[in-house]
Amino acid sequence: MNDAPLLTVDGLRSGYGAETVLQGVDMEIGAGEIVAVIGRNGVGKSTLMRTLTGLLRPSDGTIALAGRDVTADSADLRARAGIGYIPQGRDVFPELTVRENLLVGEVAGQGRATPDYDMVYRFFPILKERARQRAGTLSGGQQQQLAIGRAMIGNPKLMLLDEPSEGIQPSIIKDIARNVRTLNEQTGMAVLLVEQNLDLIVSLAQRGYVMEKGRLTTSLNRDEITSRDEVRRHLTI
Ligand SMILES: Nc1ncnc2c1ncn2[C@@H]1O[C@H](COP(=O)(O)OP(=O)(O)OP(=O)(O)O)[C@@H](O)[C@H]1O
Ligand SMILES: [Mg+2]
Repeated sequence: MNDAPLLTVDGLRSGYGAETVLQGVDMEIGAGEIVAVIGRNGVGKSTLMRTLTGLLRPSDGTIALAGRDVTADSADLRARAGIGYIPQGRDVFPELTVRENLLVGEVAGQGRATPDYDMVYRFFPILKERARQRAGTLSGGQQQQLAIGRAMIGNPKLMLLDEPSEGIQPSIIKDIARNVRTLNEQTGMAVLLVEQNLDLIVSLAQRGYVMEKGRLTTSLNRDEITSRDEVRRHLTI
């Protein structure tokens, strides 16, 4: 039995060329938790996500998955180890069909559980209806569902979800919150959510961190992360 947290991040520093963005990030996520990182534009939230996926190499610090150090592992290996990623702006392949976009997720998660297309289609029936349509023809909300579905195909233990609300109508944001919560309940998948949207944060997160200038400066417990006033205060200072 492995008692280590699902994700343990220690002293993580990372950036672009000579510019260090993450200034020593420490965090933990337990199996099945939904944890938010909130913070204003440009503080380093997406940089944290890219460093966790392996797309960016840290200059210092460690990342462990269920107690195993994955800091030196490629993005590909980390995906296979159970890290799913939904990038900011979604990044679906517009020229590929919906089905082909989902296949990309299958390749990323190769060697893990059998890809469960039925589960994805159960959560997002529109993806089944539109399976043969080019992804570029979908609405923003539908593309977000596709991006989440693509990550689900790899059956991740931890889903990194970077500003899923960006550019999406409020009614669809509610759907996203509901779907991600149900996924979490039914599969036990943990979620690290980066957000600035108040409604999505308070309706989805169970706990959180505030990021300022590349550091996690405050931890928010369940009462705090579900309090609109408290969350708003951290997004606007
Ligand atoms: N590809 C890049 N090359 C160079 N600098 C970058 C790159 N991406 C981001 N940065 C810089 O790194 C810093 C942190 O950016 P990051 O995208 O992580 O912020 P963020 O918190 O995700 O912001 P937002 O809420 O706007 O998405 C910013 O100063 C940004 O200009
Ligand atoms: Mg960002």
